[in-house]
Amino acid sequence: MSSTPHLGSPADAASLLVAVLAQNERTQPERLKTILNSLIQHLHAFAQETQLNYEELELGLQFLNEIGLASGPKKNEAILLADVLGLSTLVQLQDAKRIMAHGGTEPGLIGPFWRANHPQLPSGAKICTADTPGDLMTVRVRVMDLNKKSVPGALVDVWQASPSGLYENQDDHQVDMNLRGRFTADNHGEFFFRTVKPAGYPIPIDGPVGRLLDHQKRHAMRPAHLHFIAIAQGYRVLATQIFDSQDPCINSDVVFGAVGSLVRHFEPDPTQVNAWQLQVDIMLEPGETRIPHPPLS
Ligand code: BEZ
Ligand code: FE
Repeated sequence: MSSTPHLGSPADAASLLVAVLAQNERTQPERLKTILNSLIQHLHAFAQETQLNYEELELGLQFLNEIGLASGPKKNEAILLADVLGLSTLVQLQDAKRIMAHGGTEPGLIGPFWRANHPQLPSGAKICTADTPGDLMTVRVRVMDLNKKSVPGALVDVWQASPSGLYENQDDHQVDMNLRGRFTADNHGEFFFRTVKPAGYPIPIDGPVGRLLDHQKRHAMRPAHLHFIAIAQGYRVLATQIFDSQDPCINSDVVFGAVGSLVRHFEPDPTQVNAWQLQVDIMLEPGETRIPHPPLS
């Protein structure tokens, strides 16, 4: 005989919720069961609180379908949605609390533009072509553990948008993998690279998330930033971003990600005119090295 709990005929919201939760009782793994339990309760409470009608439910589901249809190997609209709703930053802040309590570096959003297979470059390389517009910038990176001991051999992917406001994969005028690189930390846990000073840019608004921002009468800008993801055996993977404190949108990031110690003053480079310098220290927590899935191929 099946051990499926008897559904009965839920006649009101409370007994419907009990019946739906009962169907989640045997879910495995346990963590999925916990998450689904909470999600079901919040969804039911949300529909009751807003007195959602069927037409509105259909509209919402249609929107989610469009998010899926707009996503693929070249674009990740689902990440954009979580970002503009502040969900990604909320999760990041929860992670940050744990990581920083141990002295680790504050994490930042990965965002939808990290690509698999960044070009491996030697320390000192320039990550962009000579015709990429913008002031020159030198970025020095040091990867350490929580005791400030260097982590030689750490792999660090870096990526940024062109000052024209686009990542290379969005822009026919940039060569493949422009403004992206993968570096290996030396025996001192260090490397440096040369680039152009990033500028702020709008997130993609040609899809359903753009329509959502329109309804909300919001701008689409992110303040200027560089992305980093550090991967080293025996340490938790850390994704972070460093923002330019002088950017006009520093206090109104469309994805709420320019927070805390991620906001930095980009220093003028005293050795060159119209050039900038930045030191980025990455302190990694020991733990399992689980590499996130790059949103783009
Ligand atoms: C980014 O920093 O690349 C990004 C993050 C969230 C949404 C869009 C872009
Ligand atoms: Fe970005």
